[in-house]
Formats: sequence, C-alpha cells, structure tokens
Amino acid sequence: MRKLGILLSGRGSNFQAIFHAIQSGKLQAEIACVVSNVPAAPGIRFAEEQGLPAYALNSQGIPRVQFDQQVVRILRSHAVDLVCLAGYMRLLSPEFIDAYRNRILNIHPSLLPSFPGLDAQRQALEYGVKIAGCTVHLVDEGLDSGPILAQRAVPVLEGDTEDTLSARILEQEHDVYPLAIAQVLARLD
Ligand code: GRF
Repeated sequence: MRKLGILLSGRGSNFQAIFHAIQSGKLQAEIACVVSNVPAAPGIRFAEEQGLPAYALNSQGIPRVQFDQQVVRILRSHAVDLVCLAGYMRLLSPEFIDAYRNRILNIHPSLLPSFPGLDAQRQALEYGVKIAGCTVHLVDEGLDSGPILAQRAVPVLEGDTEDTLSARILEQEHDVYPLAIAQVLARLD
C-alpha cells in the first residue's frame, strides 16, 4: 500500500477528506504520518484522535532548511511515497523539494496560475472573475507553482462573499484532492 505523508498548518479539512476517501475505499493508500508546523492546528488533533502517527511541531524561529530537514526525517522514517500539502502555510526549501521531487502535491483555492498566495478567494472576488475554482498541482520551488494535475471550476454567484465562495470551492477541493492523489499514485513507479 502506498504511503502518504500529510503536512498541514490549520483546520485540516482536506486532510479529513483524504482520510475519509481512504476509509470508504475510494483511495487506495495509507496515511503514514501527519505533520503540523503549528502545534495547536485542529488538523493534528484529528490525526491524534484517529490514532495516526502525528507530529505537532513548531516552526517558529527555526531556519527553514533546519525545520525542513526535521520534517523530511520524519517522512523518511515512515517510508512516505507521496507528500500531500493540505493547508500547509509554509514554503518548502529547495532541499525538501529535491528530497521528494515530483512527489509533493498541493491544493490551492484558485484556478492557478491566477491568484497564488494568501486569500486566493478574496483576490478572485476583488478582481471580479466570474469563474473561480481550485487546483491540485505538483510542488516546485515557487509559490503555488508547479505542473497542474487537476482543477475544478466554481462559478462566482451574484452576492457571493469571500465566505460563501470559499465554502463552495472547499466542497470541490474535498472531492478533487483524493482523486488527484489516486491518479498520481497509479503512475508512481
Ligand atoms: C484550503 O483552502 C487549501 O486549498 C489551502 O488552504 C486551505 C486549507 O484548508 N491550501 P484545510 O486546512 O484543508 O481545511
């Protein structure tokens, strides 16, 4: 069974969607470990409740390369095949990306390459786009950049707020991320 390493910093709803996709047999994989760089992240509590190997680290004040070495060590100790960023609010060092080249996925709440970075849904609303959405992509050294694997379009509705649009995008995130992971796993050698 292929092993996933989940990295998160907060709520962890995408992680939960991956977890449930595995539970229901839609995704053939195993969550080998969950790592948070924010000790109080709700997502890491969920991992603990499920009895998954959970690492609540604190990245504050630690140089990026040093922190990433620690995370890579954890991922390697669990023989992780694929790293899934799920609301991980940290850029990865080139060393991390090299260690898992083409084996790191991210989900972002916009139709990339539009609106990378923070508050993507707000950026889209402010720009006035009529079609928003989400993207699963392979991670490279840039911010929310790298080859696109899957996207879902979400129409912007009259009267949408950041919250209402984000909620409809999130529904699509939860559906598309496990599917994209399954596709990548099927192609891993
Ligand atoms: C999601 O919108 C994801 O696209 C972005 O950060 C958010 C994380 O939400 N990268 P959650 O922690 O998975 O609930």
